[in-house]
Amino acid sequence: MTSSVQRKPVRKAVFPVAGLGTRFLPATKAIPKELLPVVDRPLIQYAVDEAREAGIEELIFVTGRGKTAIVEHFDTAFELEATMGGRGKSLDVLDATRVKPGNLVTVRQQVPLGLGHAIWCARAIVGDEPFAIFLPDELMIGEPGCMKQMVDAYNDVGGNLISVLEVPRNEVSSYGVIAPGEQSGALTEVTGLVEKPAVEDAPSNLIVSGRYILQPEVMRTLETQEAGAGGEIQLTDAMAKMIGTQPFHAVTFAGRRFDCGSKLGFVEATLALALEREDMGEDVRAMVTRLLG
Ligand code: G1P
Repeated sequence: MTSSVQRKPVRKAVFPVAGLGTRFLPATKAIPKELLPVVDRPLIQYAVDEAREAGIEELIFVTGRGKTAIVEHFDTAFELEATMGGRGKSLDVLDATRVKPGNLVTVRQQVPLGLGHAIWCARAIVGDEPFAIFLPDELMIGEPGCMKQMVDAYNDVGGNLISVLEVPRNEVSSYGVIAPGEQSGALTEVTGLVEKPAVEDAPSNLIVSGRYILQPEVMRTLETQEAGAGGEIQLTDAMAKMIGTQPFHAVTFAGRRFDCGSKLGFVEATLALALEREDMGEDVRAMVTRLLG
């Protein structure tokens, strides 16, 4: 295939953010886990920034009860801005939280039936075009970002794409795992997909790492998708059914990934990003050295 082929552009991104965040209790009792900050930006902000860098402006949040604060984060905060403005403070720090009117839509997932079900809840807004999915727990840091790398690949090969990365074999059972076919550079053909396999049944140690570009047909497949691993309606199972009917590739992300769905990953992300910050990196390094000493 050549890159001169015109693809339908990826304009919309779905962010499933209805999860209860039980792994971070009690922190997440009243605060959505997607708003927990890594240094000074909430997790969801990193994902939205990554989407915009990839040219995606239409944001679809699949939320649930108690998750409204995520939407507030991307709204105009009149009192805050008036007060800061009145005190002569710069509002630049809020720039990333601004969304063009109409570009943020929320739908509710009323019952937690699984990731596949959450995505299906967005079907009317996604409509008949390719769309991206971001799992904000997975913090992807790269230049360019993970989704930008995927959109570039999409412009070449079209169809469906997922980001993958290698994990130690004994960790595969926590993830979706691909059966890899032919490989060319960062692109690997996907010949099979299985959600949370037992270690001995896993077709590889390449896991689905929370970024997807999918064709709208997946919504039709999800419509009748039955519960799979963990008794949940799995996106992985619906994607697996599309292999063979449409191109399906994995993109090995050139960059770093932090699993912010776990406490250890969250601490690692916080430290790693703080150490790299121009405004505080040196101080953090000195602090860590002192703590270790
Ligand atoms: C979900 C997906 C899984 C993927 C993982 C990445 O699992 O179902 O395929 O590998 O996210 O974090 P969850 O973490 O919701 O169990």
